[in-house]
Amino acid sequence: MLPCQRHLFEIPDDVTYLNCAYMSPLMKQVVEAGNAGLARKLRPWELTPPQFFTGAEEFRETGAKMLDADAGCAAIVPSASFGLGTAARNLPIRKHQSILVLDEQFPSNYYPWQRLAEENDASLKVVPWPEDHDWTAAVLAALTPEVAIAALPNVQWTSGGLLDLVRIGQACRQIGAALVLDLTQSLGALPFSVREVQPDFAVAANYKWLMGPYTTGLLYVAPKWHRGIPLEENWIQRANASDFTTLILYSPDYDEGARRFDMGERSNFALLPAAVRAMRQLLDWKVSEISATVGVLNRQLAEGAAELGFSSPPESLRAPHYLCLRRKVGIPRELMDLLASEKIYVSVRGSAVRVTPHVYNSEADVDRLIACLRGVALQTS
Ligand SMILES: Cc1ncc(COP(=O)(O)O)c(C=O)c1O
Repeated sequence: MLPCQRHLFEIPDDVTYLNCAYMSPLMKQVVEAGNAGLARKLRPWELTPPQFFTGAEEFRETGAKMLDADAGCAAIVPSASFGLGTAARNLPIRKHQSILVLDEQFPSNYYPWQRLAEENDASLKVVPWPEDHDWTAAVLAALTPEVAIAALPNVQWTSGGLLDLVRIGQACRQIGAALVLDLTQSLGALPFSVREVQPDFAVAANYKWLMGPYTTGLLYVAPKWHRGIPLEENWIQRANASDFTTLILYSPDYDEGARRFDMGERSNFALLPAAVRAMRQLLDWKVSEISATVGVLNRQLAEGAAELGFSSPPESLRAPHYLCLRRKVGIPRELMDLLASEKIYVSVRGSAVRVTPHVYNSEADVDRLIACLRGVALQTS
């Protein structure tokens, strides 16, 4: 268990921020790294061509550690949708085959597949909401031979339901389906390894559980797709990019590994150092420790909320860092505003109150939320 790390953030004492799944607060050291990066452009004459590569490689190496992957398999992307679009651009699909997605899946991991299905006379196959909360069993049951691509998360974002990706990965390989993962709501807070899961593509936006700035993201591309087609054709992905004097000797060759999938202007001097600093702190804490620490807070929240009539999936079937609370009588519309007036911040997603703490939270935050929910329960039961 990690001790509370609130001192690394700038969260006022009277704020209870339980909304990391919306957007993590930046650590002060991350802002410093970003500011220093931005300030480098005060003196562009000091920015040398090799620096277009060193920062990017640092991001790639640190991101690869988060994924338990080789750095050469990581590409730099601005968003989850960019990474998922890259996967959709490269994965083959035939007429009458299907693409598996979950009920209420996040739109960035739905629209690219809807388009790909439409363009190929294929279909989307939606895994129905499992009444028993077991998303893994529901996915395994839906992985039938006509599925060509399974496009899934590690955590279903409106329930907090956990998917056992090792078992799902095995099942995909058995039927020859590609596995594409959106890890935006889990990477950094839930242990994950590409070596164990063996996805074809996996993406995470950095601004939530990777605690980085907005518009940074990480894309894993399995070696079998390294000769694929990038979403964008830009100069820095090409093999000759390091010599700025010969860029117009157009090269037919790309840089090595997954680098060909990097976004244009990927050498972001302000955002990349900030994202790296955040990921290094997560690696120092260890993702398993973060998961255990935040899991204890969510267990206390789940127990306290249960006494007030809020239900959540059983602990074994939900992600420790991600708690979605539901009530038979529904969630009052004004709940978020009411909580915000007390400086307590959560989200409502679908029909659930989503509570997502991190290591800056403590039992005091749990108590404040429960006290507020008690008031709401008394008024609306
Ligand atoms: C599951 C999931 N994926 C992706 C995103 C962000 O998508 P994008 O980076 O395409 O904006 C979110 C944001 O809430 C999310 O919850």
